[in-house]
Amino acid sequence: MSFEEGKVNFIASKGVFFNPEGELCRDLSVAALSAWLSGRKSARGVVVLDALAGCGIRGLRYAVECGVSVVLNDVSKSAAREIKKNVLLNKVKRKCKVRNEDARKLMVSERFDVIDLDPFGSPAPFLDTAAISIKSNGMLAITATDEAALNGSAQRAGIHKYGIVTRRTHFYTELGIRNLITSISLTCARHDKAAIPLFCFVDKHYYRVFMQVSDKKSQISEILKNIKIFYYCDKCGEFSDDFICQICGSKKHPLGPTYLGKINDEHFCEKMLRCIQKLDVKMKEKETKMLTATMSEADAPLYFDLHKLASKHKFNLNKISDVIEALKANGFSASRSALCPTGIKTNARLADLLKILKTR
Ligand SMILES: C[S@@+](CC[C@H](N)C(=O)[O-])C[C@H]1O[C@@H](n2cnc3c(N)ncnc32)[C@H](O)[C@@H]1O
Ligand SMILES: [Zn+2]
Repeated sequence: MSFEEGKVNFIASKGVFFNPEGELCRDLSVAALSAWLSGRKSARGVVVLDALAGCGIRGLRYAVECGVSVVLNDVSKSAAREIKKNVLLNKVKRKCKVRNEDARKLMVSERFDVIDLDPFGSPAPFLDTAAISIKSNGMLAITATDEAALNGSAQRAGIHKYGIVTRRTHFYTELGIRNLITSISLTCARHDKAAIPLFCFVDKHYYRVFMQVSDKKSQISEILKNIKIFYYCDKCGEFSDDFICQICGSKKHPLGPTYLGKINDEHFCEKMLRCIQKLDVKMKEKETKMLTATMSEADAPLYFDLHKLASKHKFNLNKISDVIEALKANGFSASRSALCPTGIKTNARLADLLKILKTR
C-alpha cells in the first residue's frame, strides 16, 4: 500500500512494519531534529542513524524535511528491500544509505551524530551500543513501549530491564518517563557521556525522550547528582526523600534510582514549537498544545494526581485551576502537568496541599 506523511511518499507492504498512528511521534521527532540542528551552521555533515527503521518513513522524513544524511537500518531483509524502494521513490539516494544488520552490531562499529531508537517494546537491549555509538554533542531520540516496566505496573520487569525499583503510584506516567531517562543517563555515564533531557512526552502506549549527549565530566556529575532513591507511602501517596511518611508516620517504600532533575529544556521546546508551526502536518494543533503545556510546567519533580488523592484523603474535588491559584496564593509554585490531565506540579509537599484542599 502507498502512503503520504509529511513531505514523504512511501510504500509499506504486508510484513514490513508501518504504524500510521506513529505520525505524531514522527512529526515531533522531525521538529526535535530541526530544533537540534538550529544550533549549527547547516545540516551538512550531520549523520542520523534510524537504527530500527521498519519501512523507513522516520529516517526518510529526517532526510527530506531536515536535509541531513541518514543511515536507515533494519534487521529484516524485507524491510531493508522496502526502504531501498522508498529511498528511490523520494529521490534521496545521495542522502540515504540502507543497511540490513542487527542494530547493535552496526552501533558498535560506527559513530553517529543522532541516533533514533524506535523498537518493539523495550529499548533496553540497545542502550549500551547507542551510548558507545553516539558522538559527543549528539542527540539520542528513544521510544519505549514497555510502559509497565518503567511506571511501576510490572515491578519485576522494572528490575529485569532497567535495574530500577518501581511501584504503582499516583504519578506513574511521569515516573515512567523519568525511569526511562534514568536508564539512558546511567548507561551513557558508564561510557563517560552525559545524557541531558531536552524534551519528553507520552502518547497512546509509548514514552519518547530526546536527550543531548556531552562528554563533559561536569555535566556527567550534574546528571548523576539528580539520580536518587526516594520514598513513597502507599497509604497517603506522599513522596519525598524522608523514609517516614510526614502524614501517617508509617515507613515508606524506596523507589529508584530515579532521575529527579529537569526533564524538559524550555529553549529547546520553544525551538520545537517554532519548527512545528512551519511544518505542514495534520496534528499541528495537538502537537502545539503538547509543547505549550510542557513549557508551562512548574519546575518540580513528579505531580499530585488530584483525582487519585481525593479518594485516598476524602476531600471534595476542586477545579484544578482553583487549586493551582490557591497554591500560588500560599507562596508555592504550581502548574498543570503536561503528562497527566488531573495532575498538579508544585514544590509544595502533600501535607501543604492537603491543608489547602481541606480548608476550601
Ligand atoms: C517499531 S518498528 C520501527 C518503526 C519505524 N521506526 C517507524 O517509525 O515506523 C521496529 C523495527 O525494528 C526492527 N528490528 C527488531 N530488532 C532489530 C535489531 N536487533 N536490529 C535492527 N532492527 C531490528 C524490526 O524488524 C522492525 O521493523
Ligand atoms: Zn503515609
